[in-house]
Amino acid sequence: MMTETQDARALPGLAYTSEDLFAWELERFFRQGWLPVGRVAEFAEKGTQAAVMSAGRNILIAGTGDGVNVFVNACRHRGHELVAPACKIRRAQVWCAYHAWVYGLDGELRRAPRFEDAAERDPQGMGLLPVRSAEWNGWLFVNHSRDANDFSESLGNLTDILAPYHLGTLKQTSTEVYDVHANWKLLVENYLECYHCPSTHPELSKVQRTVNGEGFTSTGMWLGGSLDLKNSAASMSLDGQGPAWTFPELDENRARQVCYYAVLPGLFVTAMHDYVVTHRLDPVAPDRTRVICEWFFPEELLTSPGFTPDYAIDFWKTTNQQDWEACSSTQRGVSDPRYIAGPLASHEEELYTFLRALADAYRIDSPLRPLWTDQ
Ligand code: FES
Ligand SMILES: [Fe+2]
Repeated sequence: MMTETQDARALPGLAYTSEDLFAWELERFFRQGWLPVGRVAEFAEKGTQAAVMSAGRNILIAGTGDGVNVFVNACRHRGHELVAPACKIRRAQVWCAYHAWVYGLDGELRRAPRFEDAAERDPQGMGLLPVRSAEWNGWLFVNHSRDANDFSESLGNLTDILAPYHLGTLKQTSTEVYDVHANWKLLVENYLECYHCPSTHPELSKVQRTVNGEGFTSTGMWLGGSLDLKNSAASMSLDGQGPAWTFPELDENRARQVCYYAVLPGLFVTAMHDYVVTHRLDPVAPDRTRVICEWFFPEELLTSPGFTPDYAIDFWKTTNQQDWEACSSTQRGVSDPRYIAGPLASHEEELYTFLRALADAYRIDSPLRPLWTDQ
């Protein structure tokens, strides 16, 4: 039987090396998509003001006590940054260090010293410029465009699928930041297939099956599938050991599966029966991607006597390193102008679906759209 992937080829090398295409993708996919910038709890305390870079855009996240407001990190007077790059401070009001204009945490201009009628100079007012934001499962997402779909709408059925993990209540135990020398798409492609697992991840392949997984039916901006834990393994850990604990609402099958969800363009959620690991991608250059990996556990497990999250942290640190080496090596390979894109195996289906969505977006000069929902 002919499969759709039979005639499919990977993308040409230029897709991973071109500065022009990278700039186009940043604009179309990342700045018009919903991007995770951290957990709401990191910023929510009243007066917290954090400068964060997201898809090359500088934003100011201000905590209001019961949530956050997100603004362009530029003063409305002459554009000085309101919080210095990558800094996080606490102050009751937003204060510009250049000419001392003061704004409320709601972004409204409160005071412009020696310029009392400044607020009247613009019919829209001189408040800080808002950036669209949304909270989902404890994460703060931003969107740098004005006309993107509502975030919860764009997720389709993912919210319901992830409900048994109660992601919004999980506690984050650790973070690792990686500077990966590979194009962001190679990281997504790598996440969407386990063809590479037996050779790239000997430790992972001892605890998880690498074939015969289930592909999920997505109705939103995400793709994913699951693979079974091996019978001999209690958890995703280097020695297969782990706590005898399972998210109570998972059905019997899910409780023995490792579920991989790529929320496009920049978040991977890997959900297991006892913990969750996420990767956030922030593209820096055609051949560079900043990856933030975070580990999340249910409070009940974290507070159980003798529990330590090290088994999960060590496991994914090892797996991450192997993946980044594979992706960097691929980046070097596809950067050779003589490289010719090769064929895809029939089981590289999720990867094929992703590449098809990319090709469609390139063809009609559009943001990434979930083509798979039309099928
Ligand atoms: S640039 Fe901020 S007060 Fe002048
Ligand atoms: Fe991998």
